[in-house]
Amino acid sequence: MVHAEDLKRRAAAHALTYVTDGMRLGLGTGSTARHFVELLSEKVHAGLTVLCVPTSEQTLAQAVSLDVPIATLDEAGPLDLCIDGADEIGPGLALVKGGGGALLREKIVASAAREMIVIADASKKVDTLGRFPLPIEVVDFGVASIQRHVEAAVREAGCSGTIVLRRDGDGHPFVTDQGHQILDAHLGRIPDPAALASALKEVAGVVEHGLFLGLARRAVLAGKDGITELEPGSF
Ligand code: A5P
Repeated sequence: MVHAEDLKRRAAAHALTYVTDGMRLGLGTGSTARHFVELLSEKVHAGLTVLCVPTSEQTLAQAVSLDVPIATLDEAGPLDLCIDGADEIGPGLALVKGGGGALLREKIVASAAREMIVIADASKKVDTLGRFPLPIEVVDFGVASIQRHVEAAVREAGCSGTIVLRRDGDGHPFVTDQGHQILDAHLGRIPDPAALASALKEVAGVVEHGLFLGLARRAVLAGKDGITELEPGSF
């Protein structure tokens, strides 16, 4: 049996073939992106020139520790490529992201890139998004009120389920790199991701949500039978 970490690393290694000298890269967050940063660092030590924008403090620390050249997004300007993991990859390469809480910076960085490539083990591919709880980043003022409006928006978009404030290991509200909190929407199924995305954006206090629609141009999935590449039109 192939271990999930091996599959993540294989997907990351394959995505590295899309990186060329001189590129400005967005570096994702999470266990799969972590493999990518490690492999990228080997290339950097071998002479590859890149400038990278991390999507979280966690990835920033990793990149610095591995001598991967980093810049802020404003210093780097438009990016050539963003490589990141995902919690779910659905039809049209619609994604759920934010399991690690980095969705806001991840979406800003992915939006700044000419192309986004998602890397994952093949288990992340789903026919319908929603089994993984959808992270919704909210400001920390009036969270209970924001949550009620999020619940109404979710119903309006044809979904149902429970919304839970994310907590850290000590039971305190989880705080994102941008100082916000996260509501996790346990919906089971998201029949119309675009409808839910726009309904959530209407709620005052919602900063961002983990639906990444129309951003990924390619998915690199590693399964026990090898690598599969998907494009929005092919899945
Ligand atoms: C981080 O906030 C997330 O968006 C991650 O990219 C996503 O959770 C995938 O993480 P793994 O690669 O650890 O599954």
